[in-house]
Amino acid sequence: MNYDIKDAALSKKGKLRIEWADDNMPVLNLIRQRFAKEKPLKGTKIACCLHVTTETAVLMLTLKAGGAELALCASNPLSTQDDVAASLVKDYGISVFSIKGEDHKTYYEHLELALSIKPDLTMDDGADLVSTIHKKKQHIPLGGTEETTTGVIRLRAMELEGKLLHPIIAVNDAQTKFMFDNRYGTGQSTIDGIIRATNKLIAGTNFVVCGYGWCGRGAAMRAKGLGANVIVIEVDPFKALEAVMDGFVVMPIANAAKIGDIFVTVTGDINVLRGEHFKVMKDKAIICNSGHFNVEIDIPTLKKLSKKSRTTRDFVEEFVMSDGRRIYLLGEGRLINLAAAEGHPAQVMDMSFANQALSAEYMKKNYRSLENKVYKVPIDIDRRIAELKLASMGVKIDKLTEEQKKYLASWEMGT
Ligand code: ADE
Repeated sequence: MNYDIKDAALSKKGKLRIEWADDNMPVLNLIRQRFAKEKPLKGTKIACCLHVTTETAVLMLTLKAGGAELALCASNPLSTQDDVAASLVKDYGISVFSIKGEDHKTYYEHLELALSIKPDLTMDDGADLVSTIHKKKQHIPLGGTEETTTGVIRLRAMELEGKLLHPIIAVNDAQTKFMFDNRYGTGQSTIDGIIRATNKLIAGTNFVVCGYGWCGRGAAMRAKGLGANVIVIEVDPFKALEAVMDGFVVMPIANAAKIGDIFVTVTGDINVLRGEHFKVMKDKAIICNSGHFNVEIDIPTLKKLSKKSRTTRDFVEEFVMSDGRRIYLLGEGRLINLAAAEGHPAQVMDMSFANQALSAEYMKKNYRSLENKVYKVPIDIDRRIAELKLASMGVKIDKLTEEQKKYLASWEMGT
């Protein structure tokens, strides 16, 4: 078996941590039990480009139980949990190519190694695998799935230009994914990453959230819960209005730059925090990103504007400006929740990865009828995951009566 990981000796710790996540992923567990019996992915080669975490490990075990042959590489150079990579290789015989902190060249070499199994199906988080495949026109017989907002945006752009060479299921757009993973997952893990990196008190800080999509909503909500004065930055009038009515102060970034203590970018766009903002930030301002790519903070300009820099703590780099002000960049501007913390908790990844596993099964069954388009997760799969999650939490809900169903289906009845 081929692999490239940091240290196989880390496997013991990794295995225990994978078991902990597994214990918190009841929906994926049910799918794994069925997969083990039915083997719906028998002989299917799947190349996965995902954050190599304990939760991803549980997904890998589920796909393997279903009969898949796997190769896993990282979807971000800084998000790999090396002990998990070690355990997947040593304890579970899964090919992993990822090392936390790998450089740009190694990151892409690892992608190529995952693709070298000649996959039937791909599983992406950010669309790096699909974009590599498309550049070299590698044929993927079944299609692929995509985990995250940024990846879906890239893939929809490819579809629009008529460049997409195989079908994709946008796992991100399932309700059981974005409403929970993006909001509660990113919300909690982003704050977790900032706290683990800095050990700063959040209460009383001016906490600036750039972007009020599902991830921004989560980060703002949780920062507020910790007592921060949350300021939201938006370009979309609907989202800005929503932020105002959710009780947050909304203002242009030019104004927020002068008063913020902690800045988090979650927009999916480039250069959200840039030179003009670094020039007016307060001494000891903290800046970080929780969007998929490390493009939201203009780091080259930050470097140019500073007279010196040093690493002061793990994942904290201090930049000293020419006037002596210090700006602290966390996690090299990469996903702070995965760089300095452990990513989203297993309870939300349970639903995200249930969508991945069931979408892979769906593609295997239905690929002949799919076109080269970006598809939603079928609603019956999405709904079933919500039902299973509720059941696992012991929560029961009501059903419409026949009379209520009839009322909703009719237009004649008013009062
Ligand atoms: N993305 C965000 N959190 C994650 C996690 N814990 N595992 C895999 N992908 C993630």
